Formats: sequence, C-alpha cells, structure tokens
Amino acid sequence: MVLVTGGAGYIGSHTIVLLIEACYEVVIFDNFSNSSRESIYRVEKLVNQKIDLVEGDIRNGDDLQKVFDSYKIDSVIHFAGLKAVGESVEKPLKYYDNNVNGTRVLCEVMRENGCKSIVFSSSATVYGDPHTVPILENFPLSATNPYGRSKLFVEEILRDLYLSDNEWKIVLLRYFNPVGAHESGTIGEDPNGIPNNLMPFIAQTAVGKRESLSVFGDDYDTPDGTGVRDYIHVVDLADAHVKALDNINSFDEVMSINIGTGNGYSVLDMVKAFEEASLKKVPYVIAKRRAGDIASCYANPSYAKEVLGWEATHSIKEMCEDTWRWQSNNPNGY
Ligand code: NAD
Ligand code: UD1
Repeated sequence: MVLVTGGAGYIGSHTIVLLIEACYEVVIFDNFSNSSRESIYRVEKLVNQKIDLVEGDIRNGDDLQKVFDSYKIDSVIHFAGLKAVGESVEKPLKYYDNNVNGTRVLCEVMRENGCKSIVFSSSATVYGDPHTVPILENFPLSATNPYGRSKLFVEEILRDLYLSDNEWKIVLLRYFNPVGAHESGTIGEDPNGIPNNLMPFIAQTAVGKRESLSVFGDDYDTPDGTGVRDYIHVVDLADAHVKALDNINSFDEVMSINIGTGNGYSVLDMVKAFEEASLKKVPYVIAKRRAGDIASCYANPSYAKEVLGWEATHSIKEMCEDTWRWQSNNPNGY
C-alpha cells in the first residue's frame, strides 16, 4: 500500500487518480491546511471507488503511527508541505517546521515501521538562479527564499539518511511549473486568495474574477523580454510519480530527477495560448519585475526518460484547455 501525504492537494489528488488506475492501493494522509475533502470526493467519483483517508499532521508522529498501525505501507509519496514563496519569507519558521521538521518526523516513523521507500516533491527552485538553461540534475544547488531552502534542506536530509542506511530507496522529483487539470474538469488547482502563480492568475482573469494580469517585467534577456518557464501538465507530473514507484526498487542511489517538458514558454506565450484555448480575452499590463524572479528556467528532462521511462506528453494547448475546463466549471474552486 502507498501512503500519500498531502494527497488531497493539487498534485496529490491527480496522482491518486493515476495510482489507482495503475492498480496501486493508496491511503491519503492530510491535515487539510491547504485543501478540502471535496477534492477527495471528486477523485472517488473519477475512479469509482472509496479512498482511504487518515486526517493528521506529518509533524505529529502519533498521527502518522495510526496509519502504519492500520495499513501495511510499502512506500510513501510525500507531497505534504507549504508552498507559498512570499509567505515563507514572512514566516520562515513556519516553513522550516512544516516542511523540514514534518519530513524528519515522517522519516522517523517510516524507519520505526520498517518502511524505507519515499518519493519526495522537490522543485526546480533548488537550482536557484541557474547559470545556463536547460537545467541538468548535476547543476549547483542553492536557494533564494525559505521555501526553496526548505526543499534543499529536505533533499540534504534524505541524502544523509541514505548514507546512514543504504536500504533506503529515495527519489527526489524536481518539478518545474505544474499547471493544468484533469481532463474531466472536476479536479484542479484551487489557490487560496489572490493567486501568486501565473496560470491560476490567468485563468481567474479569463473567467472574470480578476481585472487584469500584471506581467512582472518585460526587460528580461528572453525572446520577448518576459520570464520563460517550463510549464508541465499536472497529469504528466502525476504519471512521473507512478513511474517513480514502479522503478524505485531498482535504484541503488538517491535519485534526483527533473520533471519538466524541456520547453520554455514566456508569460506572453502563455497569455496567447490561454486566450486561444478559452476564447476569452486576458487583459494584461506590464508591471515591474517581481523580487527573486529569474529570466529563464527550463529542464533538460532526458534523465527522467532514461531512468523512469517517463516523458511529458501534454502540449501547452492541452494545459490551457484543461485549466480552462476546470476554471470555467468551478469558478470558485471546490
Ligand atoms: P497543495 O498545497 O495543493 O498540496 C499540499 C497538501 O499537503 C495539501 O493538501 C495540504 O493540506 C497538505 N499539508 C500541508 N502541510 C501538511 C502537514 N503538516 N500535514 C499534513 N498535510 C499537510 O500543493 P501542491 O501544489 O499539490 O504541491 C505538493 C507538493 O509539491 C508540495 O510539497 C510542494 O512544495 C511541491 N511543489 C509544488 C509545486 C507547484 O507549483 N505546485 C512546484 C514544485 C514543488
Ligand atoms: C514560483 C516560485 C517557485 C515555486 C513555483 C511553483 C517565486 C519567486 N518562485 O515559480 O519557488 O517552486 O512558483 O509554485 O515565487 N508572472 C507574472 N505575473 C503573475 C505571476 C507570475 O508575470 O501574476 C510571471 C513570473 O514573473 C514568472 C512566470 O510568470 O516569469 C511564472 O511565475 P510563477 O507561476 O509564479 O512561477 P515561478 O516564478 O517560476
């Protein structure tokens, strides 16, 4: 059985669907700090079965032990974490407690129960401001904010854990920019308040919830001057987790793997693609650069193909169409 921490969240809910379709048995562990039970009900409808759930906090070992007492857990996919960069700058201790300490407690309980197999949600943010693109896994690591540092620290902790006991099977998936939604339009990203990330902001502008998009800078060293990123469909990303689990027992080192498409799109490319997919106007204004942003960030994803047999298959058009289906069917989220 697979324990999915944070399984009620955006990426977790999509991954649960694919895990069940691939015949994995799953149990979700979530404290609903950034999600709701509704996402799980909707996943249950999609897969046509009940999903086991334990409500609890990864920082609480007793909560976690309940899962290990009730289920035979072979592996963990660890999504649970806080992810708002701005908030992490204001409240760094909250991020280190939740993301770093939470992961430490999780690993402790896993070890006590003889479960030593984990897939961790890392991020391209661990490359800091890369010296060149596309980004390879062996590029130097750094962080520019507490959120990014919490990911980097967890990576280091997991590497130390492996050094102390190489029975551990550890896969660090470094996601680029997850966007999109399940093609049914019933599950998707449901940010609290004003979205910080580009795609949900564009979607909410197209649906009329926001007046206009602020494009953060048009004087970067990129083809049209706006920031370039590697947007990846959340269903492709979910599939990478299934492939990571399929292969995890064959690995004899800690695996760090980029999960991106290898294509870079600018902010204005995304606006245009979204307008075409939604047939709605996305008004925008050019604003000043956002502190901490970099010009270009996209993956060389060839290692994922080599070691997981995984590659992204969804186009930008599908990312926009699926986001739009979710957003227009659920203008107020869950
Ligand atoms: P999300 O907020 O939608 O999902 C995270 C889930 O974890 C939520 O359901 C939340 O309630 C739960 N959670 C948080 N803290 C918890 C705790 N202490 N105990 C139990 N549950 C807890 O976020 P997401 O976009 O699905 O991201 C999943 C993971 O992927 C996160 O670790 C995030 O940092 C990482 N990641 C996300 C992105 C992105 O752009 N979405 C990019 C790179 C990495
Ligand atoms: C951000 C985080 C990163 C995190 C990732 C996924 C920062 C500095 N980085 O990455 O750590 O892993 O989200 O959650 O916050 N943009 C606009 N207008 C907007 C929003 C964004 O022009 O309203 C631009 C940005 O300047 C950037 C691009 O769109 O060029 C993508 O931004 P975003 O979606 O926030 O992702 P990242 O900045 O790549």
